[in-house]
Order: sequence, then C-alpha cells, then structure tokens
Amino acid sequence: MKAVIPAAGFGTRFLPFTKSVPKELIPIVDKPVIQYVVEEAAESGIDDILIIISAGKESICQHFNPQFELEQRLESSGKKQLLDELRNIGRGVRIQYVYQQELDGLGGALRYAKSFAAGEPVAVLLGDNVTAGDQPVLSELLAVFREKQASVVAVEEVPREKVYKYGVIDGVSSDNYIYKLNGLVEKPAVEQAPSNLVVASRYVFTPEIFEELDRTPRGKNNEIQVTDAMRSLLKRQEMYAVKIKGRRFDAGDKLSFLLTTLEFALKRPEYREPLVDFFRKHS
Ligand code: G1P
Repeated sequence: MKAVIPAAGFGTRFLPFTKSVPKELIPIVDKPVIQYVVEEAAESGIDDILIIISAGKESICQHFNPQFELEQRLESSGKKQLLDELRNIGRGVRIQYVYQQELDGLGGALRYAKSFAAGEPVAVLLGDNVTAGDQPVLSELLAVFREKQASVVAVEEVPREKVYKYGVIDGVSSDNYIYKLNGLVEKPAVEQAPSNLVVASRYVFTPEIFEELDRTPRGKNNEIQVTDAMRSLLKRQEMYAVKIKGRRFDAGDKLSFLLTTLEFALKRPEYREPLVDFFRKHS
C-alpha cells in the first residue's frame, strides 16, 4: 500500500510562525510533526510515500534528505546516538514530492496523487496531525480496509459544539467501533450535523476516489473537499469509518500544539520530572 501526505496548506492557524516555516515542521518535543506522520505510515507497513507540498515548503524535503556533511561531523565527533537518530529519519520508506500548483483545498491536493496511486488503493495521512496509541492509527484502518475491501476513514467523538470544524459522518455501527457510512458532510453547522463523530485525519481509499475528486466542484470555504468526493463515492461503493482507539493531535492549532508537546514530553523520562515541578510551582 502507498500513502499520500498532503502538506501544502498555508498554516494560517499557526501564524506568524508559519510565515516562513511549514506547519508540518512544527516540533513536538524534538521531531517535526511530519516525521511522526511518516513513522506512523512506516509502522503500518507503508514503504512508498508521496508528500504534496507547495512553493516555499521545500524544507520538508530537506528534512527527509540525508545531510552528509552533518553526518560526517557527528561521526568524527563521536555523537553516535544523534547520528543514528538522523540516519533513521524516513528509514525504510521511499519518499517523493509533488507541488500543488493551486491551493484549492485538501481534495485539490489529493488530485495530484492520482498517477502515484496508479489505480491502486491509497492511504492518506494529513501532515499536520500526529496520533498516539498502542498501535499505529493507520494500521487500525488498514485492518478494516482489508476485511471490508472498501474505503475507510478514521473518526473520533468530539463535543457537539465543535463539529463545525470537521468532516462529520452519518453512520451505523453494531460494535461502536466500525461504522457503515450513510453519508458525510464537511464542516456543517452544529444543528445540522448528523452526529458528533468527526473525520480524524487518516483515510484509506479505493482507487475510484480519484474519479470522484476529478468531478468534485469547490465546496465549503470555496475549496475542493475530499469529504464531498467521498459522499459521491458512497453512491457507488460501501464505505466505513473506524472510531480509532488511538488519539489524534492537531499540531496546526496553537493550543492543541502546546498540549501535544506537553503530553509527548511527559512520556520522556528526562523531561517528566522538571515539567511536573514546573507546573507545581506555577499552578
Ligand atoms: C480536514 C478535513 C476534515 C477533517 C479534518 C481533520 O479539515 O477537511 O474533514 O475532519 O481535516 O482531520 P481541515 O482541518 O484541513 O480544515
């Protein structure tokens, strides 16, 4: 299975930082968000990745390219652990890049993955969202994809008043885990939302999604919405949602970035105690 990581957006929710640095390079402790995303894909068995960037976001490519001079410097100064960490970036996956010429939304971005997918199913991981859990979130989706042979989207429950920020599904489930979709809508008004189960940044699509994307007009916020293409695909094929067991963090949002950083830092033994001390003093 191949994976696509859309990473072309402006990152307006994280300005001014994102004026010159891609939001996908925001660090969670010491690794950029998109590295976690690539690692989630690799841990889920993906070895072929397409990252969709836009002009000015070439530093994303630089992050995954080897930096031989730096490696030599670390080697000669005996910094073996750092050297290993550097060499592990993107290990085991082949990464290619394509420029999104016009920033016309997530659906517009995914159109650039059509020839990469080459008629095969494809996983999609949003480049500014990290996940955590006992098993990689994408692998949860892939298991359901293999069982159902149909497109699958990750969902999570949010408080009803927050649904307007997301794609929202209408589905039925007998186990409260896998939902068969009846419909979905992008960023509805709270009172019109079919549920409080929202699309959570990971997808696996059958190849027919690209036909639907090609004929999807601009929708919410004047952008081509992948949610709209999915709704069309649903008329032709069954589609499922998985209420993920892992958790999703949106690093493109300032408060969420702060909380994610803390959560990940608290898991690191070297930072846990100083952080806990800090909060004791300041609360
Ligand atoms: C995108 C999708 C939306 C989804 C969200 C989180 O919205 O369009 O359906 O719920 O990601 O995965 P964005 O956050 O880019 O506005």
